[in-house]
Amino acid sequence: MLDALLSLEQSALAELAAVTGGDALEKWRIAYIGANGQLKSAMAGLKDVPKDLKPAVGKRLNEVKAALEAKFEERKAALAASGPSGPITDITEPGVDLGLGRRHVLSRTIDEITDVFARMGFSVAQGPELEDEWHNFNALNIPAGHPARDPRDNFYLRGAWAERLLLRTQTSTVQIRAMESQKPPLKVVATGRVYRPDAHDATHFSMFHQIEGLFIDRNVSMVDLKTTLLQFAKAYFGADAEVRLRPSFFPFTEPSAEFDMKMRIRGELQWVELGGCGMVDPNVLNAVGIDPEEWTGFAFGLGIERIAMRKYGIADIRWLFENDARFLRQF
Ligand code: DAH
Repeated sequence: MLDALLSLEQSALAELAAVTGGDALEKWRIAYIGANGQLKSAMAGLKDVPKDLKPAVGKRLNEVKAALEAKFEERKAALAASGPSGPITDITEPGVDLGLGRRHVLSRTIDEITDVFARMGFSVAQGPELEDEWHNFNALNIPAGHPARDPRDNFYLRGAWAERLLLRTQTSTVQIRAMESQKPPLKVVATGRVYRPDAHDATHFSMFHQIEGLFIDRNVSMVDLKTTLLQFAKAYFGADAEVRLRPSFFPFTEPSAEFDMKMRIRGELQWVELGGCGMVDPNVLNAVGIDPEEWTGFAFGLGIERIAMRKYGIADIRWLFENDARFLRQF
């Protein structure tokens, strides 16, 4: 019995020394000195010890118990001192001023222009940045072999998917997603990032943002498109904003136009191109199962950086993505 007590004490102390955390410590306590622990069963065994040995074994039991309990408290205190609470913090000391953060000027522009369109009755739609060719091309009347699909003008992903994937080059993808998931009439805008392998300069970046608009209803005309864009321009840039539509071409609209706005730049009134627009091509409506005999619509896609640069007088698109707090704090 005395031998058994000795080995109990030794293994308990060895295990205790190896304990490194609160959970392990509690496990150790339960195993050795808890109400159903090994020490308790050893004590229960005292009744079977021959009478003449009882005093010696009893004394030893008490010694082991006292030793294990004392070591346990010691270990507990040591773990607490090195634990996460660490050194005492003086909570009365004045804090460090971290400065107030603010939203990025682009996020602000996105919110502001989304708000303008929301007031005109557009709801907000979304789509993924990683797209399939159907949404970025086919459904938008850009068939296989079209030059817009050239690998040099797109970020295709390598991989073994059933369909080739790419980073979307235009938010027009969301037109398709909106028409696939909702029945006309529908009136949505979508904002988000688009990607093109362009060389960076003052007006080009390989990632930028667009706002896409889509209105599908009965008897929608070019007049509705022009009125919508004029209202947007006046609401966002001021009552003296003038707009014009210049004939252009996009595969997904017929007719198509470039949307220009007259703005004062360094004192001089100039026409500035903000994006493309047009009447949704019947092929696009057919691709999403909307009858072009019954429904018509317009669409537009504007560059958000361009809008922000005009609104806030920013001369270089690259400044928007350098994350220089001295620049960003101005807005
Ligand atoms: N997706 C075109 C681009 O990125 C812009 C555009 C043109 C969007 C005409 C439209 C549209 O919705 O109708 O160059």
